[in-house]
Amino acid sequence: MSASSPPWTSQVPAHIGIIMDGNGRWAQKRKQLRTQGHLEGLKSAKRIVKAASDLGVRYLTLYVFSTENWKRTTEEVGFIMGLVKQYLRGELDFYRQNRIRIRHTGDPAGLPADIVKELHEAAEETRLFEGLQVILALNYGGRDEIIRAFRRLSGTGVSAGTVTEEALGQCLDNPDIPDPDLIIRSAGEYRISNFLLWEGAYSEYYFSDKLWPDWTGDDLAAAIADYQQRERRFGGLKNE
Ligand code: FPP
Repeated sequence: MSASSPPWTSQVPAHIGIIMDGNGRWAQKRKQLRTQGHLEGLKSAKRIVKAASDLGVRYLTLYVFSTENWKRTTEEVGFIMGLVKQYLRGELDFYRQNRIRIRHTGDPAGLPADIVKELHEAAEETRLFEGLQVILALNYGGRDEIIRAFRRLSGTGVSAGTVTEEALGQCLDNPDIPDPDLIIRSAGEYRISNFLLWEGAYSEYYFSDKLWPDWTGDDLAAAIADYQQRERRFGGLKNE
């Protein structure tokens, strides 16, 4: 993810990233298990994918599982991985109907083999679809992605003293995808938690108090409308 978008915001953002937070609190409020919150979180993700596709968003990166999420209980980790598998398998008809392409960002090396296989198959099956691209951030960490990019770059024989932003950007997980225009975080937390650290350098941020399982297409449309009021300067001066 390296290229930047143009400096106007009146259109729908080409690339939106979402930190889908609040599944656990949603369940806790209802005296349910955290896993129930993730199940509802998956339903919410499906609603938002559909809404993003209908609104003409080009790329949607969903923060599903971070490099730090392995600290959770074995049960919760296993449940989330099961949901990912269910999502990848169960949604194929929907992707076909809506011409949605599935991709991955994150380190496949740390993921269970069956998940890597499902990710690979979904990516292959949808490779030629020209609609919305959904990028699942799984075993993803921004710092980890930068380190992996640096290792790839070192492998090309380039010397450390001549490394450029462009060269490192080309070694990130999906260098053809433009940087996110808008990064959304649900559930009232104001931090980026290692999400798209490199790519989000000039993203607009939108924070919402609403817990992720309560999100609907209207919430996505409201985030986009907010984004459309912003002026992006990318460190330059006001665009008269
Ligand atoms: C953060 O909420 C959520 C996660 C770490 C998991 C996200 C997973 C899903 C939404 C389901 C899978 C989705 C797809 C698209 C395959 P939290 O558990 O940290 O919530 P809390 O802060 O309230 O505890």
